Amino acid sequence: MDDTISKIISLTKRRGFIFPSSEIYGGFGSSYDFGPLGVEMKRNLKQVWWSEMINNHEDIVGLDAAILMNPKVWQASGHLAAGFADELTECQKCKKRFKKEDKEKDVCPECGGKLGQPRKFNLMMKTFVGPVEDEASIAYLRAETCQGIYVNFENIRSSMRKKLPFGIAQIGKSFRNEINPKNFIFRTREFEQMEMQWFCNPKEADKWFDYWKEERVNWYLRLGIDKKDLRVIEIDKKDRAHYAQRQADIEYRFPFGWGEIEGIHNRGDWDLSNHSKNSGQDLRYFNEEVNEKYFPHIIETSVGVERSLFVFLVNAYKEIKGGRTTTTEAVKEQEVVMKFDKNITPIKAIILPLVKNNPKIVAKAKEVYKIIKPKFSCQYDQIGSIGRRYRRADEIGVIFALTIDFQTLEDNTITVRDRDTMKQERIKIDNLMDFISEKLNN
Ligand code: GAP
Repeated sequence: MDDTISKIISLTKRRGFIFPSSEIYGGFGSSYDFGPLGVEMKRNLKQVWWSEMINNHEDIVGLDAAILMNPKVWQASGHLAAGFADELTECQKCKKRFKKEDKEKDVCPECGGKLGQPRKFNLMMKTFVGPVEDEASIAYLRAETCQGIYVNFENIRSSMRKKLPFGIAQIGKSFRNEINPKNFIFRTREFEQMEMQWFCNPKEADKWFDYWKEERVNWYLRLGIDKKDLRVIEIDKKDRAHYAQRQADIEYRFPFGWGEIEGIHNRGDWDLSNHSKNSGQDLRYFNEEVNEKYFPHIIETSVGVERSLFVFLVNAYKEIKGGRTTTTEAVKEQEVVMKFDKNITPIKAIILPLVKNNPKIVAKAKEVYKIIKPKFSCQYDQIGSIGRRYRRADEIGVIFALTIDFQTLEDNTITVRDRDTMKQERIKIDNLMDFISEKLNN
């Protein structure tokens, strides 16, 4: 495991972002639980994506479709066929399976048994719906959220009276029986996706593909992802997803190498025409102006919540050798600052009484905490020296450290320390909410 990744995994566990699932039972495969800070960060990330799609673009509406769908959906989408499968070899002795590219010789890396011929293993997760576990009650946990969008295309178009082009956005869980989950939360079997499907005239598909590719790259840049760590790769036909006519992957330079974080796909009429054929419902669009009926083409933007959260963790992680705090005890110690974007950071402010044994200062600090808490995610911390508390706050990316000291008792002002500049300003408590709102909204 790469050193930086190990440090990030350790920090996220120690500080309440991410825990291995069912840890007291030894964990469970590649499942992870998001702790108090992780869940705040995840919610922020989803909110920023949602408002980017719904508020910052015209003609995009939302949807929250069910995870369990009629299995015919997955037949029509091609996910039950060979295209949505990993090629694996199975050990004839211990029955363990390995990805084709992971086996070097024809012997099992685990037990030395003979490996069989590569075969396709489907990635859809199966379950049973209803009291009987037979063929007829098999259902699948969705492998991508967008199928819920396609089967609702006509419901949404007609109920919202939409004309092309328009988009439908959705955030939700997806499941894939990944044979080789790896790299912490990069590839897991249960994950969330944020997907937007843009329905357009086929003649304009290329134009919209380029538009959405640029929009999505800019979104990462606006949220502080370093430009040199992002790249977009147009994928060759032989490597594209089974539904894609064109595919561009947005990749991030993780410490373990470049990895895909988001896919931009031109899915053509693959989904709507297949659902029409299989359901018997005509999902073509009628353009009244030119009296034409056709299947809209779909440009999709698809990103994993956990995978992009991982990007924001790696991008934010900064080690400052020798320390940057000037209080004596902190000098020369290495400090870690999580430089999250202000919209994504889990905790916006921390309230610090300078000393914990002065009841007036503590009471004032609690008063400030009460003012801030209903509006901004914040913490109260009175344990340890002020330098140590600043460092603890930096380590989880808190933007504002608010210190209540002896002067506060005289003039009702507090110091506000900025995480990135470490500059301190004295602000009147009465003006604090306006000050924070203004800084966070700019
Ligand atoms: N609807 C299109 C689609 O699902 P994909 O390239 O298979 O396309 C899109 O997945 C995104 O979903 C990926 O770029 C990644 O961010 C996320 N994703 C896919 N599989 C994942 C997994 N096993 N674990 C975590 N995230 C995953």
